[in-house]
Amino acid sequence: MTDSYIQQLFAERIGGKTFGKSTAIYKFEKIKRAKRAALAAHPHVDLIDLGVGEPDEMALPLSVRALSEEAQKPENRGYADNGGPEYCRASAQWMERVFGVKGLDPETEILHSIGSKAALSILPATLINPGDVVIMTVPGYPVFGTHAKWYGGEVYNLKLTEANHFLPDLDSIPGVVLKRAKALVLNYPNNPTGASATPEFFAQAVEFARLHKLAIVSDAAYSALVFDGKPLSILSVPGAKDVAIELHSMSKAFNMTGWRLGFVCGNPRLVAAYGNVKDNTDSGQFLAIQKACAATLGHPEITSKIAAKYSRRMDLLVACLRKFGFNATKPKGSFFLYVPAPNAVADAEGNHTGFKSAEDVSQWLITEKLISTVPWDDAGAYLRFSVTFLAKGEADERRVIGEIEKRFAGLKFEF
Ligand SMILES: Cc1ncc(COP(=O)(O)O)c(C=O)c1O
Repeated sequence: MTDSYIQQLFAERIGGKTFGKSTAIYKFEKIKRAKRAALAAHPHVDLIDLGVGEPDEMALPLSVRALSEEAQKPENRGYADNGGPEYCRASAQWMERVFGVKGLDPETEILHSIGSKAALSILPATLINPGDVVIMTVPGYPVFGTHAKWYGGEVYNLKLTEANHFLPDLDSIPGVVLKRAKALVLNYPNNPTGASATPEFFAQAVEFARLHKLAIVSDAAYSALVFDGKPLSILSVPGAKDVAIELHSMSKAFNMTGWRLGFVCGNPRLVAAYGNVKDNTDSGQFLAIQKACAATLGHPEITSKIAAKYSRRMDLLVACLRKFGFNATKPKGSFFLYVPAPNAVADAEGNHTGFKSAEDVSQWLITEKLISTVPWDDAGAYLRFSVTFLAKGEADERRVIGEIEKRFAGLKFEF
C-alpha cells in the first residue's frame, strides 16, 4: 500500500513521518515472538511463564457479585466524570486501616483514576512545561516520563542498584538538574526490583522535595502486597501531604487489573490539578465498578491472602534458583523476584553459551527451556521472575517449580 498523506501528519513525539516504519523490535515484542517460536518448535511442552506482570487469578466472588448487583441499578448507568463519592470514602478508610494514614478528605484529597497508568499519563500535564525535568528511577515503569517528554520535559534517571538497596541516591542529582526539576517519581514496592522503601527513605525524600521544591509522585500500585510487616505509604511521613500525591490501584492488590480502577490521594492542590486534566481526558470509571470496588476495599484480608500466596511461591522459586547458583533474595513485597543474570551457561553435554546481556539470557531461556522471564539491562543485567505463573493450588505451584528444576538439571550457570 502506498502511503497516503496521513503518514505525513504524525507528530514527532510518536516518530513523525517514520511512525510505524521502524524495524527495531522492542523488548516485550521480542519476548512475545520468542515465545511463539518456542511453542511452535515444541508444541507438546508447557511454556512456564514467569514474565507476566499481572495476577493469575480473577477478582474474588464478593467483588464480582457486587458488580453484578450495581450494574443493574439505573442510577449507576451514566458518566461518572470525576464523581463517585462511595469509592473515595472507602479509599480514605482503606488508607487508614491498611497504612495508618489518617484524615484524608475524600472530597478534596482523593479522586479515582481509571487505573494508575491513566493517572501517570495525566499527571505530567499538570506539572511539566517545556524544559522542566522529572526525576525518575531506572529500571522502572516509564509512563510518567514518556508523557513528560511529550510535553517537552526531560527525564533525569537515577539508577536503582543493589549497593543502594534499590533506593535512588537523591544526593547524587546535580544542582543544575535540580534547578529545573519539578517532579520526583518513586515506585515502592518497586517494579521490577521488588524492593520496598523504608520509612527513613520516604522521610528523606519528603525533606528533599521540600528543600528543592519538587512534587513527589508516589506510584504505590504494589503497596499493599507485602510479605512481612505493615504496608507503607509515603503519606504516613509527617508533612508528606505538603509535597506528595500517591497513586493506588485495585489491579494487583485485589486481582482486578481488567477492572481499571485506582485512586490518587494526598496534596489537595495536586489532586485538584489532576482532576482538572482528568475531566478533560476521560469521563470517569463506571459507577458500578466504583461501588463494587468500594465494597472490595472493605476487605483488606483479600490482599493478605493474595500476598501469602505470592510469598509461598517466592520461597519455592528463590530456593530453586539458588540451587542453580542464582543470587536470589526474597523481596519484602510485590510479585517480582529480580536476580543478577548469568554471563554464561554450560550444559551436561559440554556446550557452552555466553551471554552479553540479560536480554540474551531471557531469549535463551525461552528458546531452549520454554521458561519466560523479563530481562532488564538498564542498571546491570538482571532477570525479573514474576510469581504470578499459572498454578491451581499449592501442589500445582510445587509442580511448576519442580518442572523448572527438571529443565535446569545438568546446567551450570556462570555469574
Ligand atoms: C509500577 C507500576 N505502576 C503502575 C502500573 C499500572 O497499574 P494499573 O493497573 O493500576 O494501571 C503498573 C502495572 O504493571 C506498574 O507496574
